Amino acid sequence: MRIADEMAAGGVDVDVINAASSDATGELCIDNYEQLVFGASMHAGGIEKEMAAYINRHQGKIETKTRSFFLVLLSAATTDPILRRKWLADAREKVAGQLRVSFNNVEMIAGALMYSKYSLPKKWLMKNIAEKAGEDTDITRDYEYTDWDQVRRYARKLMRN
Ligand SMILES: Cc1cc2nc3c(=O)[nH]c(=O)nc-3n(C[C@H](O)[C@H](O)[C@H](O)COP(=O)(O)O)c2cc1C
Repeated sequence: MRIADEMAAGGVDVDVINAASSDATGELCIDNYEQLVFGASMHAGGIEKEMAAYINRHQGKIETKTRSFFLVLLSAATTDPILRRKWLADAREKVAGQLRVSFNNVEMIAGALMYSKYSLPKKWLMKNIAEKAGEDTDITRDYEYTDWDQVRRYARKLMRN
């Protein structure tokens, strides 16, 4: 994972845990960490339920820590600035509605349109959304919109926390 790699290269001891793995989260001891960074992607208006469940279950401990949250979503790649602002504000609100823990800043990172990985109905749904957002609509290939400089800047910011 790029953020962890960047931080590790800067000398930070980083563990990457998959919130969807109950074995991994079961063994996780929040007290052992100075800082917690949560990352999730937006799917149909919500983040992965395993991530939301983990954060909400450990609200008390998480709130004692320096913490950050990044959200990967297509809306961040929207070319129309007014639509982008509105969609990112909507996403921020949806995340806040799903999580009991508050985060000062949610870093919004543009994700990917992986048409090749979607079922046919999902391909058409995503093509529709992409069309509205001014993104790419050729369903015979994949697109990656991530601004890796932003990711690098975000990792460096975390290292200053
Ligand atoms: C079924 C589905 C629903 C999605 N819903 C949204 C959405 O509501 N808002 C958004 O900005 N991006 C949405 N996306 C785009 C994803 O957030 C983006 O493709 C992200 O990079 C996917 O990350 P993943 O590899 O973890 O699935 C959706 C993608 C899929 C496949």
